[in-house]
Amino acid sequence: MKILVTGANGFIGSALCALLLSNGHEIHYVTTSIKKIKNTPNFKGFLWKPHNNEIDLHCLNGVEAIINLAGHTINCPWTERNKALILESRLNTSQLLFNTLQNNQNTVKYIISASAIGIYKSSVTEMYFEESTNLGDDFLATVCKQWEKENLRFNDLGIKTAIVRFGLILSKEHGVLYELAKVVSKGFGACLGNGKQWMSWIHFEDVIQIILHLLVSNRVGVFNLVGPSVVTQKQFLTLLAHQLDKPLWLPNIPSFAIKMALGERSALVLSSQKVSSLKIEKTGYAFKFQALDIALKDLYNT
Ligand SMILES: NC(=O)c1ccc[n+]([C@@H]2O[C@H](COP(=O)([O-])OP(=O)(O)OC[C@H]3O[C@@H](n4cnc5c(N)ncnc54)[C@H](OP(=O)(O)O)[C@@H]3O)[C@@H](O)[C@H]2O)c1
Repeated sequence: MKILVTGANGFIGSALCALLLSNGHEIHYVTTSIKKIKNTPNFKGFLWKPHNNEIDLHCLNGVEAIINLAGHTINCPWTERNKALILESRLNTSQLLFNTLQNNQNTVKYIISASAIGIYKSSVTEMYFEESTNLGDDFLATVCKQWEKENLRFNDLGIKTAIVRFGLILSKEHGVLYELAKVVSKGFGACLGNGKQWMSWIHFEDVIQIILHLLVSNRVGVFNLVGPSVVTQKQFLTLLAHQLDKPLWLPNIPSFAIKMALGERSALVLSSQKVSSLKIEKTGYAFKFQALDIALKDLYNT
């Protein structure tokens, strides 16, 4: 199948493209950077400038499915300018794809778009399923709600649509695990806040395998991409410290200190989402990494 990937050069996109290629798929991708354009037989890059509504229409030639991952990184200071970039980059890209598909003949039948479990309201008691209506109203939740609304519009074009709400994706080189391990490996690990926040983690290999699974089975609707064993932050840090053979002896860092240091971004470490993986399991997907200690062992020993 020929697949158009947006955000193909990013953390998830690059691993996903490698998996898709190894499964015999052909990839077109759009990038905002001319330097990232490659032109090999099965992996072809095209330029787009979503903020100017510009896209190279050749990117759609023969494409049957789209995987939409593009968006400005959230790992930056949340200044008003960056917050606008984080939101607008996601809306611009989705809108440009929508308008392009609406106004041009194409063969696209299926689309998967990214979102995040940050859409759910922070809670230490509630278990979140895809149909939960208790959505947050902080910055990330607001971005996710608008982003999902935009992406669900592909249904109006008769395109089968799936939304994947990513949990805390575990990788040694990126994201939350990378940041926490930097501190824990120096022996300075400590719970952030009261440590009771739920961390709905998923090994990055399960993330890309699930996207492939959804793609080949053309599943529609919203899916939580989290593993089956959610843990509290204290449990997470304890297992991480054990894996890195470091102590976790410091007292908790109180929430107010984190809020003072990180401002609104403190939500990234203080918010709590206990999210269910049941729906994805019911589609027949068998998680490779069910337990956190096994996932950490795999990441640090390979
Ligand atoms: N990683 C996670 O733990 C996680 C969790 C929840 C949600 N997500 C979401 O999943 C998506 C993929 O995540 P990721 O970690 O792979 O992200 P990433 O590494 O930051 O990559 C995102 C890609 O988006 C493109 N991009 C950046 N700014 C853009 C802009 N202004 N306009 C158009 N494209 C732009 C870039 O591609 P080019 O440079 O080639 O244009 C970049 O490679 C992101 O939207 C992210 O918010 C990720």
